[in-house]
Amino acid sequence: MSSNTAELKIDGKSYELPVIEGTENEKAVDISKLRAQSGYITLDQGFKNTGSTTSSITFLNGEEGVLRYRGYSIEELTAKSNFLEVAYLLIYGELPNKAEFDHFQENIIHHTLVHEDIKKILDGFPSSAHPMGVLSSLVCSLTAFYPESLDPNRSKEEVDLSIIRIMAKIPTFASWVYKHKIGHPVNYPDNSLDYCSNFLKMMFALPAEKYQPDPAVTDALDKLLILHADHEQNCSTSTVRIVGSSQASLYASISAGINALWGPLHGGANQAVIEMLESIKKDGGDVKKYIDKAKDKDDPFRLMGFGHRVYKNFDPRAKIIKKNADEVLSGLGIKDPVLDIAKGLEEAALQDDYFVERKLYPNVDFYSGIIYRAMGIPTDMFTVMFALGRLPGWIAQWKEMRENKEPIGRPRQIYTGYNERKIER
Ligand code: CMC
Repeated sequence: MSSNTAELKIDGKSYELPVIEGTENEKAVDISKLRAQSGYITLDQGFKNTGSTTSSITFLNGEEGVLRYRGYSIEELTAKSNFLEVAYLLIYGELPNKAEFDHFQENIIHHTLVHEDIKKILDGFPSSAHPMGVLSSLVCSLTAFYPESLDPNRSKEEVDLSIIRIMAKIPTFASWVYKHKIGHPVNYPDNSLDYCSNFLKMMFALPAEKYQPDPAVTDALDKLLILHADHEQNCSTSTVRIVGSSQASLYASISAGINALWGPLHGGANQAVIEMLESIKKDGGDVKKYIDKAKDKDDPFRLMGFGHRVYKNFDPRAKIIKKNADEVLSGLGIKDPVLDIAKGLEEAALQDDYFVERKLYPNVDFYSGIIYRAMGIPTDMFTVMFALGRLPGWIAQWKEMRENKEPIGRPRQIYTGYNERKIER
């Protein structure tokens, strides 16, 4: 806590409120006791100015385009680390040494297989089911296969085992969701491969085929997962923390986070980007027409993949991934008219006063959708890919919330409905 205090005057009375300062000099007025003292609550729809917690996991400065996990910049992590190492860093607070990494990786490899009965649950879904709904159901089904995980207050070893299990099984689930949707037999994990190569093999290998993932694709996927691994208190992470705050299990909390991520204003944006580009192409490819639609306040159309709640100059993840997108596309020799539309849209928006004045720049999802498409991942699986990347962040945030013994999340409201009335009959 800082030595500063804030003073609030209401109805002629003064209240002194503590000021909290973070390690990067972020400042907050602590209003947690204000209601008890004054009868007032604070109102902030969408939590645009409300801190829900203190956290030592991720630092984000939206004005300057900074994103760091446990103090390390995403630029350095994508250049020098790998996704599993970053997952360990987020969950346990430090980068692993070689022995710690080997142990973590071996543990994950050991748990990649899922119970055969999960296939029966999968088979119950029609092929029309959206992969995100199926993924969230499969993750929640782990509560049934590991009932001991229901109690998050068990020993550290048992909580760690739940963490390892979900990290290990989510690539298997994600690939099985896809295989089921296209009516192909599922592939079992290949534990001789690294995390990303194993996932790509389960996604794309055909029966009896010797599948070798392209190292450029594996590398791009690994980087994308790192870039998505955490993003402090966003919609899905806040959901995971708030569900977990009721002492719901890790699997139930993550399953809720997957559902929160699904929406087009959050993780679903990468799917929405490609759908938007495809519909522009179908409509003749007139980029200017769609720029004008996005600016028209009477038209609900928004440029998907543009703008961000917290990044108001540039999205640092987008900067890294744009370079990656160019490398993957040229490496795979991909020529795709939808990608030309994306480039045209980006150029036009970056020069347009409407977008410049509102600081609307392409976000990470604008480019991630383009890379996933180039990798052969179908559009409705894009948000599943985001979930795969975000998983260690959700776990770390759930674990931190538990270890800090945070109270159950329960916002207040200002009631604007009827006063008491009687049934008139
Ligand atoms: N296209 C056109 N206009 C936009 C857009 C857009 N994509 N985004 C914001 N605006 C306008 C908005 O109409 C408003 O204009 P005005 O001031 O004239 O009323 C102004 O910009 C501010 O918008 P806002 O909705 O108040 O901004 P926000 O911070 O509440 O919303 C956002 C952020 C990401 C929800 C929004 O920019 C958006 O809907 N973008 C498209 C969806 C998208 O790409 N989402 C992925 C976010 S990145 C992934 C993640 O981290 O989850």
